[in-house]
Amino acid sequence: MGVARAKTQARRPVPRFVISVDIKVLKLLFREGVEVPGVQLWMKGQGKTMDNDTLTITDNRTKQTYTIPIYRGTVHATDLRQIKTDPGDFGLMTYDPAFMNTASCHSAITYLDGDKGILRYRGYPIEQLAEKCTFLEVAYLLLNGELPTAHQLELWSGEVMSHTMTHENVKKFMDGFHHDAHPMGVLISTVAALSTFYPDARNVTDADCRRRQVVRLIGKMPTLAAYAYRHRLGMPYVYPDPELSYTKNYMNMLWKRTEPKYAANPVLSHALEVLFILHADHEQNCSTSAMRAVGSSHADPFVTTAAAIAALSGPLHGGANEEVLRMLDEIGSKDHISEFIKHVKSGERKLMGFGHRVYKNYDPRARIVKQVAEEVFEVTGRNPKIDIALDLERIALSDEYFIKRRLYPNVDFYSGIIYQAMGFTPDQFTVLFGIPRTVGWLAQWQEMMQDPDTKIARPRQVYVGEEARDFVPITLRDRELASA
Ligand code: MLT
Repeated sequence: MGVARAKTQARRPVPRFVISVDIKVLKLLFREGVEVPGVQLWMKGQGKTMDNDTLTITDNRTKQTYTIPIYRGTVHATDLRQIKTDPGDFGLMTYDPAFMNTASCHSAITYLDGDKGILRYRGYPIEQLAEKCTFLEVAYLLLNGELPTAHQLELWSGEVMSHTMTHENVKKFMDGFHHDAHPMGVLISTVAALSTFYPDARNVTDADCRRRQVVRLIGKMPTLAAYAYRHRLGMPYVYPDPELSYTKNYMNMLWKRTEPKYAANPVLSHALEVLFILHADHEQNCSTSAMRAVGSSHADPFVTTAAAIAALSGPLHGGANEEVLRMLDEIGSKDHISEFIKHVKSGERKLMGFGHRVYKNYDPRARIVKQVAEEVFEVTGRNPKIDIALDLERIALSDEYFIKRRLYPNVDFYSGIIYQAMGFTPDQFTVLFGIPRTVGWLAQWQEMMQDPDTKIARPRQVYVGEEARDFVPITLRDRELASA
């Protein structure tokens, strides 16, 4: 849909409304180039645009004005391209490193309101889901858009648990890692390696094939993570037990010793269920953007998920929970908090686990994690770091410096303290983020694969390098440099 440009000519936006159609019909219409003026074909239940949903831009370089439609609080970046100084000009682009204010896709999966501290999966508040659901129940919701019936949940859980086993060669692959290999590096490589065991996974345009890989990945993630954990400790691998629940099976594969049947502590497995639900999805975060960008090339979901895990492994993303614990260890006791806060304010130190790109209020997940901590400590004994963390939060939230910058605890602030109390070493913390987040990555990937707007991710750039110049023979380069 071209955008007309003429001197001060206001483009009269065509009124739009939304109908839902089957993806196949959609693709047929687009393939046949059928264009129904004013009709925006998109997912069911989308909003309407009003006549004055437009932006009029005056280019002071040319005194030209342009009117472009406002679409759901956004403008299409490509609508700016017609703003040129002359026909040879490339036209305007948006410049937004790190996507500070750019929507890269449509999504109907997760809603965040950073100012109000609201998080919803498919419309359901995270607080209700964490209190009332199992992790696989929420996984079904994220992937299918609706909460499962009892029968659907039974079938779904059975299906996932029947896919927890990995090929025996995976163990040989795992054995190749050094004993102190970081579990995230192991996870990235083994998930990518799975793509060589399932060549059919490359058929990403087939919905049934996608679904098969989704179940495989969700089923096998805990197995790979547990294998990496036991490899690290030099312990024999424990096969998955599909009769157990998702989290109890994970604990079985982590901590089973010589006992014939591992009995998972129900308080700890419940805590893992809740923590997994909280980490399952968080709309367009860095690792999910990686999943969508890599997936947009139609790479198979195993290597695509490996890319997402790689993004999550960074200390600015999923690795933050490990950093929080290092920070609390360094602070050491409540007496040193005010000294540490001074270093934060002077810019020498960072208050890890505080602040968020989207939340300018208390991260709703952090509030729930805090509650879970107390339940876990009933079983494990209190992790003394919790008292340093609680004091740090109390002081920070009453300090103008943090209030003014709207810095609040995020999901990483308390989660590491619980994991440590449960017996996980800090390098395992991001693995515990990656297992449940696999569901969110796959739900976002599926959504992207069905979105008619999807194209291969290929951003433009602002070139700031050398202008065209001629080759300089090596013998002349000294002089060249001397004269530069
Ligand atoms: C997440 O859950 O991925 C983190 O909070 C980061 C984010 O949302 O950007």
